[in-house]
Amino acid sequence: MQAPVEIFRSDYKSPANWVTEVTLDFDIYSGSTIVKSTLSVVKNEGSTVEKGDLILDGDDSSVKLKEIYLDGEKLNSGSDYTLTSSQLIVHSSCFTGKSSFKLETTVSIVPEDNTQLSGFYKSGSMYCSQCEAEGFRRITYYPDRPDNMAKFTHVKITADADSYPILLSNGNLVSTTEKDGEGRHSAVWEDPFPKPSYLFAVVVGDLGSIKDSYTTTSGRNVHLEIFSEKENVGKLDYAMESLKNSMKWDEDKFGLEYDLDIYNVVAVNDFNMGAMENKGLNVFNTAYVLADQKTATDGDFERVEGVIGHEYFHNWTGNRVTCRDWFQLTLKEGLTVFRDQEFSGDMGSNDVTRIENVKGLRGRQFAEDAGPMSHPIRPESYVAIDNFYTATVYSKGAEVIRMYNTILGEAGFRKGMDLYFERHDGSAATCDDFRAAMADANEADLEQFSRWYTQKGTPTVKYSSSYDPSTSTFTLDLSQHTASAPDNEPFHIPVAFGVIDSETGAELVESQVLHFKEASKSFEFKLSSDPKGTAVPSVMRGFSAPVKIVSEASPATQKTDLLTLAAYDTDGFNRWEAGQKLYTEAIFTQLAGDDVNLDGVYQAFEQTLTSPKISDDSIRAYGLMLPSESGLAEDMDIIDPIGLHDARTAIKKKLARKFQAGVAELYDRLTKEMSGAPFEVNSKAVGKRRLRNTCLDYACANKDTDEEVIASAQLAHKHYFEANCMTDQVAAMSILSNVHGVPEAEKLRDEVLSKFFDDANGDALVLNKWFTIQAVSSKPDVLEDVISLTSHPEFTMTNPNRCRSLIGAFTANSAAFHAEDGAGYKFIGEKIGILDAMNPQIASRMVGCLISFKRYDENRATKMRAELSKILEIEGLSPDTFEIVSKALS
Ligand code: PHE
Ligand code: ZN
Repeated sequence: MQAPVEIFRSDYKSPANWVTEVTLDFDIYSGSTIVKSTLSVVKNEGSTVEKGDLILDGDDSSVKLKEIYLDGEKLNSGSDYTLTSSQLIVHSSCFTGKSSFKLETTVSIVPEDNTQLSGFYKSGSMYCSQCEAEGFRRITYYPDRPDNMAKFTHVKITADADSYPILLSNGNLVSTTEKDGEGRHSAVWEDPFPKPSYLFAVVVGDLGSIKDSYTTTSGRNVHLEIFSEKENVGKLDYAMESLKNSMKWDEDKFGLEYDLDIYNVVAVNDFNMGAMENKGLNVFNTAYVLADQKTATDGDFERVEGVIGHEYFHNWTGNRVTCRDWFQLTLKEGLTVFRDQEFSGDMGSNDVTRIENVKGLRGRQFAEDAGPMSHPIRPESYVAIDNFYTATVYSKGAEVIRMYNTILGEAGFRKGMDLYFERHDGSAATCDDFRAAMADANEADLEQFSRWYTQKGTPTVKYSSSYDPSTSTFTLDLSQHTASAPDNEPFHIPVAFGVIDSETGAELVESQVLHFKEASKSFEFKLSSDPKGTAVPSVMRGFSAPVKIVSEASPATQKTDLLTLAAYDTDGFNRWEAGQKLYTEAIFTQLAGDDVNLDGVYQAFEQTLTSPKISDDSIRAYGLMLPSESGLAEDMDIIDPIGLHDARTAIKKKLARKFQAGVAELYDRLTKEMSGAPFEVNSKAVGKRRLRNTCLDYACANKDTDEEVIASAQLAHKHYFEANCMTDQVAAMSILSNVHGVPEAEKLRDEVLSKFFDDANGDALVLNKWFTIQAVSSKPDVLEDVISLTSHPEFTMTNPNRCRSLIGAFTANSAAFHAEDGAGYKFIGEKIGILDAMNPQIASRMVGCLISFKRYDENRATKMRAELSKILEIEGLSPDTFEIVSKALS
């Protein structure tokens, strides 16, 4: 193995030479593709690099150099250029005295053998490329770094005309040729916008498509086309609707229009990530673009809308302005996630979207930031940049962008965005450039705010409050501290804040944003009137900063405060949050084995179940749901996965028993309301399904005796067979998949599982659900099921979605994965070894489930560490997996 090299942010230097223009020629034959490139090179006058050599990246495990010419002269190995396993270095002696020159190379690659899915590869019957972050160097020799923006003036693709009628690349189609004597045809594309190599794309195949068009505000008519394998063309309509909505939204919200005449999207089966924003030619994982009533859940529809928006929004935040180097990744990703979240909120409900996003952040990013992979949103070093497409860079990065919006206000944020584009359009920028644009456009001081880019860890904000009636003064005391990074300097934390009267629910101060910049500080407020009850602080409204928020009031006061907020807070997020905190407290009391007083929890649950004030069914549903095990785990120093699972299940059962009648009544009412209604995907219909399926879950949780187990299985079975959509089927099947030990109920479980499989009729995305639901089951023998599913004829490790649907899903089944005997760890350890040889990116992401061993007890930690040590000994281990494992073990 080549010794992994660590790269540091502080070492950035602009290169000695720039490539300004590129032509590429892809000649595709089965088993071999020839790529010819012509690079126009100029000296970079601003460079501080000492030697002027032209450095081209190239991965020699993929590209084989055939020929190389400089201004028409053939170059010789050794005297003119040096070839290493990762670079082609053209000595400056070959071009001294030239202000510019052309370099031509010919290489061959074998996309059919590319199992890493980075570079140019085959997926089913089509060829496609994936270049972010460093895939272009697996296609040809090139300065594969995002600060080199070049015009791709001529990209010619030639392939067999019958097998590959569709030939796509970025930008505009310049010309095509008819089938020639050998049955081959070609197309030439040109992209007028300079771009870094990571945004390059080619797709070649026999594809179907749907077409539409969009006229921008300034009158540009854009041809929209979404391609997929022919059998999936019927599942593209929702993506097209979402695309048009995205285009409109970016015009309305940020004044940003699309800039080419063509916008193409292609759905690909084998894809490492969600989707890719290649200029004018997005490539999507099928899971984030295909959706219809029969095969997609409401969650899937929501993800399609969000990811279509995300990739579209990248056209400005990522493509027009890109990243100077990969340490700046959050510049485009945090910002674009923020934009897609705002878009999704505006398309549906802002409160619902906010709750979902915060659940996601707490479940994944908080855990990452508490483990060995903890890093600031702008990392300081990396071995494999692919390892830094993380929840921190994406989700916490989006929270950091949201804080600018909170601090500067929506109008101020827009001014900052306008200035950012004015300054940096057409170039490669840094996170500091973005912060400077926000500060300068608003004459704001964002110096301290920069710590969000340099410091890691999740800060904890503690608060307490008091009220002095003699002066009508309300005092809020705040302190901040990062337990996992105690040396952190104080952050600039925007605290959205209000005060609620526990008796009347009235707001006692105007809702406002406090700028909390010290280790601790007191804020004083004059209340508008004396409270009739007590004055209850509502802190961090809308989750105004990515922190843990902890009250220092007595347990009794906390409980009554939470009940006030759950009932009255004018902030939708904090109303939900108050209920979650009550549930959390109950679950931890149960886990500690103490007597749980559920009065408060019952009161909050009942209010949520019945209050006529809640008009959104999704909000009602989320208010009834208990916090997730992964979210709860972040509140424990040493995680007890099985105890946590059992405690949560116990509280759920108690709620189910107490509210059996109310839940059943709501379920029946919704069933009646929805029966015969046409299937729709909008917040109202989705909310109804979400609420009804939440009721089903509680109705089925109430099972101590065999009779009750059978009754709940029957209810879920009926729900399944009466379902008119995938959402309801998945809800029912998920419940049934947990059934074990009661033969009569198991029969119903097996009937549904096999019906689901048969009805899937080979549909890849539906089969993924079938695998996942079984892998996350709470059955005690779930690992045996998973192991036997790995030999199912439909299972394969080579397709990332399928691999994740079974193996990845099992690692998320915390109680089973962390079984005390270590069998879960052993199973995963072996799979990672196999996977690493095929697809390092997928392997290194999967190994994340083993690295936080310090958060577990000694027995578990020892066993997890042992698996990591074994992985580290694998001969030829990828730098990707090496980086994660070695960090964890160090
Ligand atoms: N840039 C892509 C996105 O966020 C993610 C991605 C990264 C896709 C690397 C492929 C490879 O939209
Ligand atoms: Zn992105």
